Formats: sequence, structure tokens, C-alpha cells
Amino acid sequence: MSQNVLSLSDITKTYYGAGSPVHALQGVSFSLAEGEMVAIMGPSGSGKSTLMNLLGCLDKPDGGTYTFGDQDVMEMDKVDLAHLRNRRIGFVFQNFNLLGRASALENVALPMVYAGVKSRERNSRAAEMLGLVGLEGREHHLPNQLSGGQQQRVAIARSLVNSPELLLADEPTGALDTRTSIEIMALLQRLHREKALSIIIVTHEPDIALHCQRVVRLSDGLVVSDEKVENPHQAQV
Ligand SMILES: Nc1ncnc2c1ncn2[C@@H]1O[C@H](COP(=O)(O)OP(=O)(O)O)[C@@H](O)[C@H]1O
Ligand SMILES: [Mg+2]
Repeated sequence: MSQNVLSLSDITKTYYGAGSPVHALQGVSFSLAEGEMVAIMGPSGSGKSTLMNLLGCLDKPDGGTYTFGDQDVMEMDKVDLAHLRNRRIGFVFQNFNLLGRASALENVALPMVYAGVKSRERNSRAAEMLGLVGLEGREHHLPNQLSGGQQQRVAIARSLVNSPELLLADEPTGALDTRTSIEIMALLQRLHREKALSIIIVTHEPDIALHCQRVVRLSDGLVVSDEKVENPHQAQV
């Protein structure tokens, strides 16, 4: 019934810098089924962010295979990769990555500028997305006039404006207190449920991971476990 959103096989990535090469990923295989919500865990330096960057086509693997839908990502050119990244994948980061001098509405509307959506439509869709994440009435606030949790909601709204199939969230609650983290998880669970969005969340917090349906653990650039969560926690707000 369910198809894979993406599938990786034997992915490797080495960074060559000033010192000795860092083998960040040493043969990672992983598939994500449509509509799945998965947590990726692992100690600092285990390769989580590297994996997310490759999944999001922000960087290229050195070896292995990567299939997104029925497309071979390894064979795609820059234009196709940018299209995949901008239209089919949403990104959320630990530090929100909002433009400080742009309002919540402008931040959310920005990805639609690149997608060529007209100004009126951009604004109405951005306002709708802000409503969806519970920020009605905050459209014209600047990021520094919003709490951390509200800023992350703006970032989540921004990640969804082009209706992606997949949301990649790298430590989305890493900068938030426990209570606010649970609110963000409640929002992600609702989006997962209502929009049939596939979600991958990197976290080092076990409590956050237990809100997902499956937990994949990395260690030293390898998948060391991949397990279903029997009764995922439902975040209550
Ligand atoms: N741009 C880079 N250049 C060189 N080394 C890097 C770079 N990014 C990450 N690394 C190294 O690759 C390894 C994996 O890093 P990362 O994927 O950020 O791990 P995690 O997100 O699990 O903490 C670490 O040893 C890190 O220092
Ligand atoms: Mg990281």
C-alpha cells in the first residue's frame, strides 16, 4: 500500500578539511515510507546533520544510491535538485533561520517568491499558513518580537508553503524549553496527521523521539538500530 518517499543505500560522505579526513557517513541505508514520522538519534558527531543535508539535497553523497519517489537523485543536475529541494522538501532548523528584519508574514512568503507565486497569492497563502500554526494576529511581528516557540512556528509555516511531501527537521526543539518543545511536537504530529506529511526529526532527546513512529540510531556514521515505537506519545497542549 504505502510507497517509499525516499530510499538510501550504502551512502558515504567524507569531509576533507585541514586535518585528517572525517568519514561522517560510512554506508548508511534507510527508507522512509509515505506518511511516516521518524526520529533520528545519535551522539554529537555521529553524522545526523550530514545525513539530513544529503536527504535534503543541500549536499551530495560521495557514494551509494539515493532515490526520491521514483527519481535517482544521484543522477540529477543542479536545476532538478533545486526544484526537488524547493518544492518537495520543507526544512526546519534548531535556530529557526528566520530573516531578522522581515515580518513573520514576509518570512513565510519568501519561498514562494522563488517558486514564482504572485504577491497577492503569496500574502494570502502565508497568512493562511500562519493561521494553521496558531499565529493568527502575529503576521506583522518581527522575529525578535516573538518567543522561541513562536519563531519555530513561523519556520514551520515557511517550510510548508510550497506543500512539500517531506519535512526535515534538524533538532527543531533543541533551542526550546520542555513545555515549548512539547507544543512544537503537538504541531508536528497534527501536521503529520492532517496533511499526511512525512517527517524526519533529528533529536537527542528520548522524550521527543518517542513522539515518532520509528527511531533510527546513528553511531560513527552508521545506522546501529532502526526500531518501531509501539505506542508513540501523543503531545498534549
Ligand atoms: N563541513 C564539514 N567539514 C568538515 N567536517 C565536518 C563538516 N560537517 C560535519 N563534519 C564532521 O562530520 C562528523 C559528523 O558531523 P554531523 O553530521 O554534524 O554530526 P551530528 O549532527 O550527529 O552532530 C563530525 O565529526 C563533524 O565534525
Ligand atoms: Mg547536528
